[in-house]
Amino acid sequence: MFFNILLTSFYLASVAFVYASKNQPPTYQLNDGRRMPSLGLGTWFGISNLTIINPVDEEASERAVGWAIDAGYRLFDTAYIYGTEKTVGRGVKRKISEGVIKREDVFISTKLWSDSHAREAVVPALRKSLEALGLDYVDLFLIHFPIGQFANGTFDLTDYTETWEGMVEARRRGLTRSIGVSNFNAHMMDRLIKSSCIKPAVAQIEVNLNIQQPLLLRYCCEKDITVMGYTPFGSVFPDRALPGAPGPRVDDPLLRQIAATHNKTVPQIILRYLIDLGVIPIPKSITKSRIEENIDIFDFGLSPKERIALGGFDVNYRSGKSWSDSPYYLTREFTTV
Ligand SMILES: NC(=O)c1ccc[n+]([C@@H]2O[C@H](COP(=O)([O-])OP(=O)(O)OC[C@H]3O[C@@H](n4cnc5c(N)ncnc54)[C@H](OP(=O)(O)O)[C@@H]3O)[C@@H](O)[C@H]2O)c1
Ligand SMILES: *[C@@H]1O[C@H](CO)[C@@H](O)[C@H](O)[C@H]1NC(C)=O
Ligand SMILES: *[C@@H]1O[C@H](CO)[C@@H](O)[C@H](O)[C@H]1NC(C)=O
Ligand SMILES: *[C@@H]1O[C@H](CO)[C@@H](O)[C@H](O)[C@H]1NC(C)=O
Repeated sequence: MFFNILLTSFYLASVAFVYASKNQPPTYQLNDGRRMPSLGLGTWFGISNLTIINPVDEEASERAVGWAIDAGYRLFDTAYIYGTEKTVGRGVKRKISEGVIKREDVFISTKLWSDSHAREAVVPALRKSLEALGLDYVDLFLIHFPIGQFANGTFDLTDYTETWEGMVEARRRGLTRSIGVSNFNAHMMDRLIKSSCIKPAVAQIEVNLNIQQPLLLRYCCEKDITVMGYTPFGSVFPDRALPGAPGPRVDDPLLRQIAATHNKTVPQIILRYLIDLGVIPIPKSITKSRIEENIDIFDFGLSPKERIALGGFDVNYRSGKSWSDSPYYLTREFTTV
């Protein structure tokens, strides 16, 4: 019997080895029983400065998805508002047709845009996203922001608990496997959980060296909500840092020293640290060498001392949008419970 156990564990170990040698990140189990890769590719083209939204380079976007699949990525994060659902779908389907992957091997997340918060608008919005993706389901559908806003700038007063009912309906119809939220704080998630018998499987929030979110991570851990961390590089690259953004930058002596210790790059050290925080980083790149670099982080570990040093960069600085300018931001939180 012991021999059998030994054989079994040896067999499992060799399966794990084959898996690791293909450079595929391990997966996590979500609170709804589904599994999700522990690292993914971001696909938003971003903003150059506070005002200019970068145009989508469709060819580059589709090519990046293909390179990422070859490098071992199985998670792709898009959103209606990014304009990359079409290219992500094309990139994935090309690799399916080449026989490299099957649909069920990849995990696709997309997001509900803020102009579709009405309960009855959710399913049609997801159908539109699926049409762009060319898929009949996504793996994860997230409410992009807790606050609704129409294209003309008017805020939509729909309570996100109503939006959530639409999300539950979308899941019930099989249009998405899992549902979750993005840019919600702990109070909002708490209210959501109390309002519904289905809780979010995933919360996507900004996590990087400058905003490490210890309290929100603890909250999600207690509720068994898996955290995806967006903008994993924060302000580390000088060409992306907003004026006045705190350090460190990529040439920081401490970051370089930790990187040298492990024969890794500074971006790899940062991503590994986010993994150690229990966060799923989704670095965006359209550059082949960087796509490959960013997933090559599962063959080393940071020491406790190094993790404490990296923790020291947390200054709760948000590079993304804050909704505190919404006239409803506070009132909706504190009067509707
Ligand atoms: N839920 C939300 O509200 C929300 C908000 C923001 C972002 N997101 C998601 O999170 C993803 C990632 O965040 P992000 O795009 O804001 O920022 P990010 O992934 O932190 O940074 C992306 C930038 O870093 C560069 N880069 C990537 N890897 C690099 C490396 N190894 N060395 C040097 N430069 C590197 C990329 O350049 P190249 O592409 O030119 O290689 C790109 O300019 C997004 O794409 C999106 O999917 C979600
Ligand atoms: C933003 O970028 C555009 C184009 O690169 C430039 O014309 C504009 O002056 C920039 N604005 C700021 C505030 O830097
Ligand atoms: C803004 O758009 C919404 C949704 O289309 C509409 O209901 C509202 O009346 C518009 N508001 C203004 C000020 O144009
Ligand atoms: C350091 O990393 C590079 C790039 O991954 C690799 O080619 C090289 O062999 C490594 N050096 C050592 C000493 O491990």
